[in-house]
Amino acid sequence: MIIVYSLGGSFLAGQSPEGLKQYADELKSLAKEHRIYVVVGGGRVARDYITKARVLGASEVFCDELGIGATRLNSALLIAALGTAAPQEVPDSYSKAALLSCDGKVVVMGGVSPGQTTDAVSAMLSEYVRADRLVIATSVDGVYTSDPEVDPNAKKFESMTSKELVSLTMETEMKAGSRSPIDPLAAKIIERSSLPTSVVDGREVANLRKGAFGGHTGTEIRQG
Ligand code: UTP
Repeated sequence: MIIVYSLGGSFLAGQSPEGLKQYADELKSLAKEHRIYVVVGGGRVARDYITKARVLGASEVFCDELGIGATRLNSALLIAALGTAAPQEVPDSYSKAALLSCDGKVVVMGGVSPGQTTDAVSAMLSEYVRADRLVIATSVDGVYTSDPEVDPNAKKFESMTSKELVSLTMETEMKAGSRSPIDPLAAKIIERSSLPTSVVDGREVANLRKGAFGGHTGTEIRQG
């Protein structure tokens, strides 16, 4: 199977070296039988830098570039944890990512162009490499009707169609560093490519495998 993971920088980059090793070990183990690609988010560093730059008067696209820098920095940290199991560079395009992929190796990349998040990168990479599945591992345990951190009545979808995901995400704000579970562009790509996708709680390493092969308690995105 070809599996693409979108790993949120918020939970990944905050890990101790031992924690990072656990994610790396799970990815290595998956790469023994499957072709694995990982796209890493910008997390706290991206948010901090974007917030400061915006106050300093930077344009949104400049803030996006800062965010991309943070995603690449976090990617390099995961590559350090993977050691020889990963090509030792962060590709800056889908074609380079595909070229770097070979048996048993985990290709890790970050953002590529302004105006989107790494969820969109992971969806487009999935199209590019014709992935069988996309697993979006975030610091929320699935897709909710509204932000569960703000709305106590928010309900989690056990499953939903890609069309429903598109309508839900279209309501969210599109700004550098915006806080939304999945960006609308990612949802559109998932819809157009009928990509089997799961959204799981990435704070639990075991959910990487469950997100790909079942048994998770997140949200399953169906075609339609
Ligand atoms: P993230 O993908 O980390 O966004 O990119 P996020 O939604 O905050 O993800 P989590 O919380 O880590 O899961 C951080 C910022 O980098 C810019 C955007 O400004 C984004 O908000 N970015 C990232 C781009 O402009 N283009 C990219 O391809 C990737």
